Amino acid sequence: MDIQQEITRRRTLAIISHPDAGKTTLTEKLLLYSGAIRSAGNVMVGKHKATVSDWMTIEQQRGISVSSSAARVEYDGYILNILDTPGHQDFSEDTYRTLMAVDSAIMLLDAAKGVEEQTIKLFKVCRDRGIPIITFINKLDRPALNPFELLDNVEKVLGITAIPMTWPVGDGADFRGVYERASKQFHFFERTTGGMFKAPLQLVDIHSEQIRALLGEVPHAKLIEDLELLDTALPEFTQADFLAERITPVFFGSAITNFGVETFLQRLIELAPPPQGMQTSLGFVEPSASFFSGFMYKIQANMNKAHRDRIAFFRIVSGKFERGMAAYHMRSGKEVKLNYPFQIFGQDRSVIDEAFPGDVIGLSNPGIFRVGDVLSSGPNFKIPQFPRFAPEIFAKVVPKAGSFSKSFRKGVEQLGEEGVIQIFSDVHGSPTPLVAAIGELQLEVFQARMESEYNEPVHLERLPFTRTRWLGSDVLPASSSLTYAFDTHGHKVVLFRSDWEIQYYIEQTQGLILLERPPEETLA
Ligand code: G4P
Repeated sequence: MDIQQEITRRRTLAIISHPDAGKTTLTEKLLLYSGAIRSAGNVMVGKHKATVSDWMTIEQQRGISVSSSAARVEYDGYILNILDTPGHQDFSEDTYRTLMAVDSAIMLLDAAKGVEEQTIKLFKVCRDRGIPIITFINKLDRPALNPFELLDNVEKVLGITAIPMTWPVGDGADFRGVYERASKQFHFFERTTGGMFKAPLQLVDIHSEQIRALLGEVPHAKLIEDLELLDTALPEFTQADFLAERITPVFFGSAITNFGVETFLQRLIELAPPPQGMQTSLGFVEPSASFFSGFMYKIQANMNKAHRDRIAFFRIVSGKFERGMAAYHMRSGKEVKLNYPFQIFGQDRSVIDEAFPGDVIGLSNPGIFRVGDVLSSGPNFKIPQFPRFAPEIFAKVVPKAGSFSKSFRKGVEQLGEEGVIQIFSDVHGSPTPLVAAIGELQLEVFQARMESEYNEPVHLERLPFTRTRWLGSDVLPASSSLTYAFDTHGHKVVLFRSDWEIQYYIEQTQGLILLERPPEETLA
């Protein structure tokens, strides 16, 4: 197979959702259908039982997925890279970074809840990145909102037209199945004794007597009426509108009972775009470029107790990767030999010999890789800065041992690079670092890992700030009592106690510009 064929058959995506919508379950089922796992419930991805990507103690204790991994599966000749994003909202920064490495996203909604808070945040990141979104509305086997209401909810809250590709009949105990509009087939939902869904009975003509009898008079008439309404009220689905994010195709189903998942997978592969190139300081790099290149989107330490090391997750942008090849690490200017690239599947890792654009490989980090770094076997280039988010929780880190030892500094630096927390330093040169996070759990993970991995128990002295703003001008707020710090890029930030305080200083100080994100680095 030539490289163009390899590119064409790849799809790299992530699932975005609010916690509990069923992301873990849907991922398992997608892997199950593609044969990557033998049976859902035995080996699974995410946060469940013997979950393959569940490798940190904190995760296991709490049953949540803090970490994220990448699964590569083959289905019908296609290769699907599913980048697992941590579901817990405290770890949203990791999730955001993972979205830098995908070409499309599945937006998963709970049919009883519609668009939720976390969905909105993640949707916005996809929007900023310009990636198309496919919607799966889950849990139809439970009481759900009216499907028209759900479409309306997506449109109103997210500002994107939702076009159903399938349409449900009933919900909860009355859920009868979904009608697939393109193939004009009805997929019946039938509960079996194990609660699982039985193979779909597909009928072509929904006007037939048989289907009327199976659905019942009233639900059948309602379906026909709904479909007519959809035909007249909604624009037709076009791939161009989908890729331009004007519309999102919507599928209905029930991941836990496998219902609607295989149809979804088939359509997903047709709809999702193949690996896209990337805007860089050199211009647009196409996946088919003659050189190998890509970037790190995530660094993870100590993924496996058996291998106490740090892994950089690397998304290939262009060219073919071959084990043992050399590439330049652009930030340091060093040549690195890529001898042990891994494919990572939870606890397991296997060495891979070749990979193509869209694929994710795990590289052992010799300590020089950071999120956003580029490797290239060809020309030198930079990529746009990775998004960083304004933290809302702050603490001073004090070593319990009383001294700022080498291991203490190393731990703080490495966990900062990994993005477990953000590190700020004192503008007056104090050696006590400041850690900052979006969620409480990040601080707990930081503290636990400082002790278990660097043998440095630490105290966290909480600070009263709740907002970070980067200075976007040379003008400083009109007060001498505000707290300033430097981020790891040397940008100055101001720490505030409240939104009110920010507003106050903006009103008081002419020419003051406060930014919610660090100033963009130029690509030049
Ligand atoms: P998440 O990763 O998005 O947080 O969600 P997850 O898949 O863990 O699912 C959250 C809960 O919703 C789980 O139940 C799961 O079994 C359930 N669920 C997922 N898909 C469906 C569905 O299609 N229908 C129904 N009825 N439930 C679904 P739980 O009781 O919280 O966890 P567990 O003990 O079953 O693991």
